[in-house]
Amino acid sequence: MAGFEATKAAHVEESEPLRSDANIAGPTADPVPGPRSESTDAPGGAVDIAPAAPAPSGDSPSRAAQQAVEAMYRTGGSLPRPEETRVMIVANQKGGVGKTTTTVNLAASLALHGARVLVIDLDPQGNASTALGIDHHAEVPSIYDVLIESRPLSEVVQPVRDIEGLFCAPATIDLAGAEIELVSVVARESRLQRAITAYEQPLDYVFIDCPPSLGLLTVNALVAGAEVVIPIQCEYYALEGLGQLLRNVELVRGHLNPRLHVSTILLTMYDGRTRLASQVADEVRSHFGKEVLRTNIPRSVRISEAPSYGQTVLTYDPGSSGSLSYLEAAREIALRGAGTQQGLPQQEQHSPVKGA
Ligand SMILES: Nc1ncnc2c1ncn2[C@@H]1O[C@H](COP(=O)(O)OP(=O)(O)OP(=O)(O)O)[C@@H](O)[C@H]1O
Ligand SMILES: [Mg+2]
Repeated sequence: MAGFEATKAAHVEESEPLRSDANIAGPTADPVPGPRSESTDAPGGAVDIAPAAPAPSGDSPSRAAQQAVEAMYRTGGSLPRPEETRVMIVANQKGGVGKTTTTVNLAASLALHGARVLVIDLDPQGNASTALGIDHHAEVPSIYDVLIESRPLSEVVQPVRDIEGLFCAPATIDLAGAEIELVSVVARESRLQRAITAYEQPLDYVFIDCPPSLGLLTVNALVAGAEVVIPIQCEYYALEGLGQLLRNVELVRGHLNPRLHVSTILLTMYDGRTRLASQVADEVRSHFGKEVLRTNIPRSVRISEAPSYGQTVLTYDPGSSGSLSYLEAAREIALRGAGTQQGLPQQEQHSPVKGA
């Protein structure tokens, strides 16, 4: 990772200072539920997408979801469904880079395309559950019960309101103790993989939202699927710690899960107004090449507001730049996976640790 570290220093010295996040209005800044005008979004983003549709005002989430579908069709029509379930592990031990946001919005995008998608919330913070409007108070059957009590996954999965074909296995605060409890459990690294394998409902995609750490919860995720999705925030220190994640992927691939590979890298919170964002994007593309999606996710007020209403940006503001960029990223993922056979790495010749 010497290259990454050197560039990190260069970013600090040469780049213009980043704006603060003050332009990202959180829910406390605007207590009125429902989407507002897209015009407050940062104009950044290298996403070449259709013009935003007018934001819905006062619409129900289901109507908004319908609009999301309409917006989606403007981005390129229906998508191929994978021949077998694609298990996508959304991981980066760095906090706040957009793992949860990416998980729920890619999952919703694919479900709106007609795929059957399960989101597994593997983070004790329960942010993915919140963003999908899924009840996850302490008494709710959760992924903790699956991992520690061997409860079938089907007993904890809940359908997501307003998006047909989208399901969620929620995380409750119990999961905070699971890292330690797992240590003494039989087959501690493969509990999640077994649960997914035993799940009988047909699924096109499973998205696993990992916590910002590389402990046993993340190892369970890495053993349970074939594809690692790494969101990278276009910010200072974007690549810091990535070497450790890639080494862990290699370790798990070598010892526990030979199908594991980094299939997808997604640049998030891209602000086209800053030189730093394009520097980080160039850097990531030069290191990873084909794994990096062409679509960047722009920094968007809509994206950050949606979870506080228990919604994805797809239903919260279907025509926003954030919604359209996630739809486009999902389209890339679906099209890339169309040629994948039996979950084998599709870009075997391009090592995920090349240059790291
Ligand atoms: N494209 C975006 N534009 C604006 N805000 C964003 C965007 N993506 C994510 N955010 C906001 O950034 C914060 C961190 O995002 P998120 O929770 O998805 O990151 P994370 O990697 O899952 O964090 P953690 O490591 O804590 O699990 C959230 O407040 C989220 O709403
Ligand atoms: Mg998260």
